[in-house]
Amino acid sequence: MCGIVGYVGHQAAGPILLEGLQRLEYRGYDSSGIAVLDHDGALSVMKREGKLRDLQAAIERMPGGATGIGHTRWATHGQPSDRNAHPHASSSGDVIVVQNGIVENYRELKAELQERLDAEGRSWQSDTDTEVIPELISRELAAGKSFGDALASAIGRLRGANAIAAVHRGSPNRIYAARKGSAGGIVIGYGDGEMFVASDLPALLPHTTSVYHLEDGEIAAIDPESVTIRGQGGTQFQPEPTQVDLDPVAIARGPFRHFMLKEIHEQPRALSDTIRGRARLEPASALPDDLDLPTETLASIERVLVIGMGTSLHAAMIGRWWIEQIAGIPADFDNASEFRFRAPLLGPSTLVVAVTQSGETIDTLGAMNHVRDRWGAPQVVITNVDGSEATRQADTSIIIRCGPEVGVASTKTFVGSLAALYLLACRIGHAQGRLSTEALSKRLEQLLTAPSLLERGIGQAARCAQIAQLFGAASNFLVLGRGIEYPLAMEAALKCKEISYVHAEGYAAGEMKHGPIALLDQGFPVIALAPRGPLFDKMTSTIQQVRARRAPVIAVGDEGDAELAELVDHFIAVPPAPPLLTPFSLTPVVQLLAYQLALTRGLDIDQPRNLAKTVTVE
Ligand code: F6R
Repeated sequence: MCGIVGYVGHQAAGPILLEGLQRLEYRGYDSSGIAVLDHDGALSVMKREGKLRDLQAAIERMPGGATGIGHTRWATHGQPSDRNAHPHASSSGDVIVVQNGIVENYRELKAELQERLDAEGRSWQSDTDTEVIPELISRELAAGKSFGDALASAIGRLRGANAIAAVHRGSPNRIYAARKGSAGGIVIGYGDGEMFVASDLPALLPHTTSVYHLEDGEIAAIDPESVTIRGQGGTQFQPEPTQVDLDPVAIARGPFRHFMLKEIHEQPRALSDTIRGRARLEPASALPDDLDLPTETLASIERVLVIGMGTSLHAAMIGRWWIEQIAGIPADFDNASEFRFRAPLLGPSTLVVAVTQSGETIDTLGAMNHVRDRWGAPQVVITNVDGSEATRQADTSIIIRCGPEVGVASTKTFVGSLAALYLLACRIGHAQGRLSTEALSKRLEQLLTAPSLLERGIGQAARCAQIAQLFGAASNFLVLGRGIEYPLAMEAALKCKEISYVHAEGYAAGEMKHGPIALLDQGFPVIALAPRGPLFDKMTSTIQQVRARRAPVIAVGDEGDAELAELVDHFIAVPPAPPLLTPFSLTPVVQLLAYQLALTRGLDIDQPRNLAKTVTVE
């Protein structure tokens, strides 16, 4: 949520900051701004409501300078406007800050600072919580502190998780960055006589692969040639950067019209990368090298709880299904934001599996904290981001290796998380002796067909486009699934809502007649996920009930299923899959339908309104 960039060096900072913001725009895009300092401390700030392109033209007229910070915003306090866009300045104008997170006690701090502002005849320049930060720093400076000390004191006063970058007119060749709690990361990139700062790696990759991830509680003073960290407790040191192994090409859109489309097409490759070396057939073993948990722990688990949010929650729901069916032990799923405020009974023999592609989702991190503090239960995280906060909190991690996901809607990381959950179910079942080596081998062989199921599902793109043309004007959809397809119905509805802005409900097919059926008429299309499987006959009964209400039915079913094709108004064929693997054959179709609907409606697919890729605020 919100993207932060910074630069200090020998080049003009403006274009570098702008390019960095373009790469972070998926984190928030309702307004943006940059502040640039020249060597003499002359400061220029430019900010604009709207997309980055609105800022771009303004920046061309901005004075130069080789030091600066920038921000792309996802509004929390104060609506999107020029006034509320970051950077924010102290009333004295000499301290400039960009922030990602929430200052939870900003009202209290504003009240405290108000008296002084009134006395000086000054007033707040925005409706944000952020503005208290430069003001607090400025007060500490006025009391005679160095900038580093003033920043440390100000941060000490903030409640809530925050990541900050700051510049000070008095130190024109330096930027500061600080991190408190889990408000998304701050990464420092080391260049040649220049340094870069960003919330996330994609903004740094074109410049450097030598990086340092700021830890919780650290404050960095960043000069063109060196970085000095002030750790918790005030210790100072110069960090050792590490090399990241990420290909800049991975974050380019290439020939695809949208990142989302590119990432849908990348799914077979992403899934192969997730399972590489983790689905061994001779002798059969699942995740042989990943789980840093003793086999005895896995063998003694009595229950598994899988948690997540949004698309990751839907992966968790499918994971629950696999753990029950493959590992043969009780399993549950929960919405992380609800779980942590209940009084769940876990005990140390429950394994908690957190699914979070970003590894920074605040609700999921909060639930993980709760598990650790209250229950001490072992925790595994399934994530795409090695080194993310979730990997630090969990006992062990499965990194899904999907490569950066830039489209705001999760696609390839969904299938990567699914593959990791399937492997985990296999590993637990085998460790518990409930899944024989022979049965394990069969399960893994089936998983190895998943990339081709995805490939063939993607092959239905043209058919999805036709259906989207037919239903582009519909205002509602009901998506029905049963068994393992029920979470996919929910995922389909989520994708329709988030990128096509169409109201869609994902329902367990059996639930339809308990209320939603009242909605149905000729103008209410129903998407039925109906591959052949144990619940197919029940699904066709539901389809009959829908048809009897004259609602148009779009069925997604097995290739060659003439009986189903005959029964419904529109049919999309997917490759027949083993019963537990239908999530892989159906997922691309579900995603492509939503994508094509959004395209038909002319929407901004990679940057849907009101959303941000990583949700780091509550
Ligand atoms: C939907 C989507 C969101 C995320 C959710 C959790 O396409 O992207 O619903 O799935 O915000 O994010 P992570 O997986 O990063 O915890």
